[in-house]
Amino acid sequence: MDLRWTAEQEAMRDKVRRFAQTEVADVIPQLERDDEQAFPIHLVTRMAELGLMGIPIAQEWSGAGADFISYIIAIHELSRVSATLGVILSVHTSVGTLPIVKHGTEEQRRQYVSKLASGQWLGAFALTEPQAGSDAASIRTSATRDGDGYRLDGSKLFITNAGAANVYLTFAVTDPNRGTRGISAFLVGRDTPGFHIGRRERKMGLHGSSTCELLYDGVQLSADQRLGGEGEGFTIAMGALDGGRIGIGAQALGIAESALQLLTAALTKRGAKRPAPPPAARAAHAELAARVEAARLLVYRAAALRQQGRSCTKEASMAKLFASDTAVEAASAAVRWCGEQGYAKEYAAERLFRDAKVTQIYEGTNEIHRIVISNQLLR
Ligand code: CAA
Repeated sequence: MDLRWTAEQEAMRDKVRRFAQTEVADVIPQLERDDEQAFPIHLVTRMAELGLMGIPIAQEWSGAGADFISYIIAIHELSRVSATLGVILSVHTSVGTLPIVKHGTEEQRRQYVSKLASGQWLGAFALTEPQAGSDAASIRTSATRDGDGYRLDGSKLFITNAGAANVYLTFAVTDPNRGTRGISAFLVGRDTPGFHIGRRERKMGLHGSSTCELLYDGVQLSADQRLGGEGEGFTIAMGALDGGRIGIGAQALGIAESALQLLTAALTKRGAKRPAPPPAARAAHAELAARVEAARLLVYRAAALRQQGRSCTKEASMAKLFASDTAVEAASAAVRWCGEQGYAKEYAAERLFRDAKVTQIYEGTNEIHRIVISNQLLR
């Protein structure tokens, strides 16, 4: 694997790093408000102006026409400063827009992709339900044939970007007798009658990101709002999640790097008047530095495979699993070894700790990723 960035990838890294440091870092307290106003619409607008909302999408569809690695670099760099912006971008692009590029008809691409890739619209991915988190195949939201179209009934839970999105890629059962082959994907617009944004979740971390339930009450859809063929929804979802999990790996990597940086600064600050760092802190520091490096390699290895159009199910799961565990360990060590500041609200370590935790849980829990990896090895 070539570990040098191309000029284009370096330019992306520099652009996103500059944006994060000069325009995002100062408004973190605003994103931490944990209310409806916390969603950083102004920053998402800026990201659209900077061409970040459709990085791996062709210019023909109003994207930046850059490669998948550049896109992962952007999530990684953003998440070093704000994991909230990292997840907004990852969900919007990987699972909100790219499935339409891949599976959409020419007309669907024309109708949706340009608005999403330019950042005029925000995308969301509605798979999870109250009783169907890890076992995605057991969703109950139904899409019943109704004339030439469908009628959607049911609900979704913990949907990222929900409060601010314009298009919701929604998965529903079209044939309850066919298991995963009885699930289909639909494009539901925010203003569709019968579709409602439900309760907003108050979360431990990622306060600026909008997470809500979605309600579908007799939502009428035309047949051309179905994405892909009838019964292809589960495969569309899983394929999209392969890419999405690399994005979440990059988000976790950004959190881990920030935590390691805090820890390094805290151990350096000790100096002449303060005692040397305890051996346990030094050991944790060294261990984490090695783990962060390994996480970086796994994330970019999976991204390189995805970019080449090769299968990356196992590698995406490995990257997400390892990077998220590393993020939690790194943030926990920063809380532990940054002295009294580590536990203080005003300091970044406790936010990183809260933000890190969900990376082990969403886009497939790490327990699911262990199963996916083992299944792939046993195939
Ligand atoms: N790519 C393409 N197709 C795939 C695939 C992949 N990676 N993985 C499975 N499939 C296909 C299989 O080939 C199979 O197709 P056929 O019937 O044609 O053979 C079909 O899907 C069923 O596969 P499985 O038998 O492996 O499916 P399963 O029911 O055993 O489930 C699972 C597998 C991996 C556990 C799945 O349920 C899963 O991923 N669960 C976790 C759900 C998840 O990640 N949710 C994330 C929600 S979004 C989110 O979190 C966003 C956010 O907020 C940040």
